[in-house]
Amino acid sequence: MVKICCIGAGYVGGPTMAVIALKCPDIEVVVVDIFEPRIIAWNSDHLPIYEPGLDDVVKQCRGKNLFFSTDVEKHVAEADIVFVSVNTPTKTQGLGAGKAADLTYWESAARMIADVSKTDKIVVEKSTVPVKTAEAIEKILTHNSKGINFQILSNPEFLAEGTAIKDLFNPDRVLIGGRETPEGQKAIHALKDVYAHWVPVEQIICTNLWSAELSKLAANAFLAQRISSVNAMSALCEATGADVSQVSHAIGKDTRIGSKFLNASVGFGGSCFQKDILNLVYICECNGLPEVASYWKQVIQVNEYQKTRFVNRVVSSMFNTISGKKIAILGFAFKKDTGDTRETPAIGVCQGLLGDKAMLRIYDPQVSQEQIQRDLSMQKSELDRPPHLQPASPTAIKQVACVWDAYEAAKGAHGICILTEWDEFKTLDYQKIYDDMQKPAFVFDGRNVVDAEKLREIGFIVYSIGKPLDSWLKDMPAVA
Ligand code: NAD
Ligand code: UDX
Repeated sequence: MVKICCIGAGYVGGPTMAVIALKCPDIEVVVVDIFEPRIIAWNSDHLPIYEPGLDDVVKQCRGKNLFFSTDVEKHVAEADIVFVSVNTPTKTQGLGAGKAADLTYWESAARMIADVSKTDKIVVEKSTVPVKTAEAIEKILTHNSKGINFQILSNPEFLAEGTAIKDLFNPDRVLIGGRETPEGQKAIHALKDVYAHWVPVEQIICTNLWSAELSKLAANAFLAQRISSVNAMSALCEATGADVSQVSHAIGKDTRIGSKFLNASVGFGGSCFQKDILNLVYICECNGLPEVASYWKQVIQVNEYQKTRFVNRVVSSMFNTISGKKIAILGFAFKKDTGDTRETPAIGVCQGLLGDKAMLRIYDPQVSQEQIQRDLSMQKSELDRPPHLQPASPTAIKQVACVWDAYEAAKGAHGICILTEWDEFKTLDYQKIYDDMQKPAFVFDGRNVVDAEKLREIGFIVYSIGKPLDSWLKDMPAVA
């Protein structure tokens, strides 16, 4: 029986390995992590991450050919294939701080693999890493290897959170990069055989190592660039009276452009886009390509601009002051169907509103009060670290209350900001909400989820990203 071990039981390691175990009953899969609470949760009825369909997959194979353990060294030593799916956050100190990927966790995993291995292994980069990381990892492994043969493969993961199980069941493609030597090709085939249990072989792309590593960064950069492009258009739409949804629809009909990923928003979030683009920018700079670096940097700058623009719109619409005003925040996760808040635009928006002395009442169906307080009070550099290295919860911010539903959040509020596109926000009883709010009552829709016309009929003043402004908002232009 082939044995797989995955180091890192997070958003990628957990779901990816659960699906491999489900689709390959002839393979034993062990997911290991040094963070014990996470492993305990994977072995319980309350999995550590929320992902539609995940519970079902885990229940079907846990204890049969899927195991979660903190005994990292034992399972790595026994494995034929070792996936490494640990954190690769942005460096916060030293050379490349604020841009380069921090490979501390990757390197420590590689050194441990070298130390404990007694048999040949295929080591798979599942984490997103800078181009040429495989070369460094190869050096670490072979330098310490006592004659053991290690083949390094790059197998970047393209799943999106909230649809991870769907994406893993039906990936657009699986990408495997390896050395162009006979041993490298053999390793590629071994990993291809795993995926071929359920992915059509023509969708499994095999490349050299550097192409696979770079393709992951390129894919995220292209996706994020689409969002920044449509968000840049949203600002122009508001200035001119065009409607960004109509523009997206019209341009998306061109098959060369395509209709996906053209939803204007308060900004993109998530653990990947910003970090991977910063990493790309750094690699370009290190390779003497400042023009290319500055092209990609703009994608992040527009994303920051979009969040600032939203905050400024809220403040200027409410007579240029929100000091002491109650604002309901609907949604804190970086997108719907996940409880993940990493790089969520809600952090920047809430911090902007708090900076103007607003009182926030926050509701998200999947994010805990503790998480929200941590996100709003801790430094970004602290939040980016793996869970076992994060400091204890700081003192709660008094201006922030977290509540259990949208109605409670909006009670007595002057305005509502919708920051995540949870489906339940579309069907709220907005008349009831309006009746319980201070007047004039505002809705700032950062995800274009509400029917603005209906809300206006109720009496709300409504701002929808990239849509024609009503007369109130036109009279109080926001300064970006
Ligand atoms: P995560 O923080 O959810 O999980 C990483 C896990 O690795 C943590 O539980 C941590 O405790 C563990 N870990 C760190 N060092 C370890 C070590 N030395 N030994 C054992 N365990 C260790 O992160 P994630 O979201 O799963 O991301 C992992 C990688 O996958 C990153 O490189 C990320 O860029 C990439 N990726 C993420 C996504 C996504 O949607 N989250 C998608 C594609 C790729
Ligand atoms: C992304 C990539 O899609 C995935 O392939 C990669 O493996 C990891 O990074 P993820 O961050 O989980 O996945 O979610 P995604 O659906 O890409 O959304 C990222 C952010 O962009 C979210 O904040 C989302 O709300 C925002 N977004 C997305 C928009 O603002 N508009 C869109 O049209 C699409």
